[in-house]
Amino acid sequence: MLDGKTVLITGGTGSFGKKCTEIILKKYKPEKLIIFSRDELKQFEMSQVFSVEEFPCIRYFIGDIRDKDRLYRVFDKVDYVIHTAALKQVPAAERNPIEVIKTNIIGSENIINAAIDRNVKKVVALSTDKAANPVNLYGATKLCSDKLFISGNSYSGWHDTRFSVVRYGNVVGSRGSVIPFFMKKKNTGVLPITDKRMTRFWIMIEQGVDFVLKCLETSHGGELFVPKIPSMNIIDLANVIAPDSKHEIIGIRPGEKIHEVMITRDDARHTLEFTDHYIVEPEFQWWSNDDYISNGAKPVPKDFEYNSETNPWFLTREEMKKIISNLEIKDANI
Ligand SMILES: NC(=O)c1ccc[n+]([C@@H]2O[C@H](COP(=O)([O-])OP(=O)(O)OC[C@H]3O[C@@H](n4cnc5c(N)ncnc54)[C@H](OP(=O)(O)O)[C@@H]3O)[C@@H](O)[C@H]2O)c1
Repeated sequence: MLDGKTVLITGGTGSFGKKCTEIILKKYKPEKLIIFSRDELKQFEMSQVFSVEEFPCIRYFIGDIRDKDRLYRVFDKVDYVIHTAALKQVPAAERNPIEVIKTNIIGSENIINAAIDRNVKKVVALSTDKAANPVNLYGATKLCSDKLFISGNSYSGWHDTRFSVVRYGNVVGSRGSVIPFFMKKKNTGVLPITDKRMTRFWIMIEQGVDFVLKCLETSHGGELFVPKIPSMNIIDLANVIAPDSKHEIIGIRPGEKIHEVMITRDDARHTLEFTDHYIVEPEFQWWSNDDYISNGAKPVPKDFEYNSETNPWFLTREEMKKIISNLEIKDANI
């Protein structure tokens, strides 16, 4: 699908963006692959790994998604946009609300307008489980962003631009997340645990990229795609990483939930289940799910909720141990 096409990744220097670049360059032959982000140092470092000499299709563009004019310029002749740029640190969002609103909400609006005006074929935007029944500003801004992208399909008018959203949970081992944190704390013999009951959805970055690329290919426009992924329990994780450490219960932090939700009960009435994922359908008059149903999709039960606590798929300690030992994190000495 991406062969001969021009693909642009907003936030291309981020964790997702870099892995997505690696996978696209391995699997496809795009005409151009544009990395769009603000910081020249991150772009310089990325260009040492994915150099223009070795990969002549790659382009590095500095820009901010808050800047409409810049987006209008760089979206020229772009076929597909993978929108990952975001401010995503929960505590920073609480302290700097308007900055997060400008990037995650206004930035999304700019992407939608530029994509429509520049006749981009498809845009897929990354969301998070924190956007479902949000309790922190980061999640709330991502929910607004999700809604903007879904609605974008109704106001693209005579243009053919189609927008969809992919929502998933914590990326295993991502910067600032619990695994590197526990590994650092392991040497002290005490792991701080917020709440013994805490569960989280878990996804590997490669899995996330493959899922996003598949959704980009198959989307009709208007879907919110959610992969079926396992949950893990925080105590199991702590015991896998540091079996000899004591646990210090520090209490839940502002903006955190004990369990995460990916699909709320209120969304159940328009959610379809597939073998390996769900789709929350848009509520457009023109929307038809006929071909999804004829391909085996089934509506979920009315009281369905996709929740990290009630998820039927939990990782065992052995499975976690295997995943963690394969991560490229220094000190993964378990
Ligand atoms: N990591 C997770 O556990 C997780 C889980 C679920 C969903 N997600 C979602 O997945 C997406 C990608 O996450 P990630 O982990 O790859 O994040 P990340 O590593 O923090 O990368 C974010 C990227 O966005 C760029 N960026 C930030 N603000 C920008 C702006 N105003 N204009 C242009 N570029 C900007 C950053 O580069 P510059 O700073 O140089 O601009 C960076 O390249 C996000 O939308 C996030 O909400 C992440």
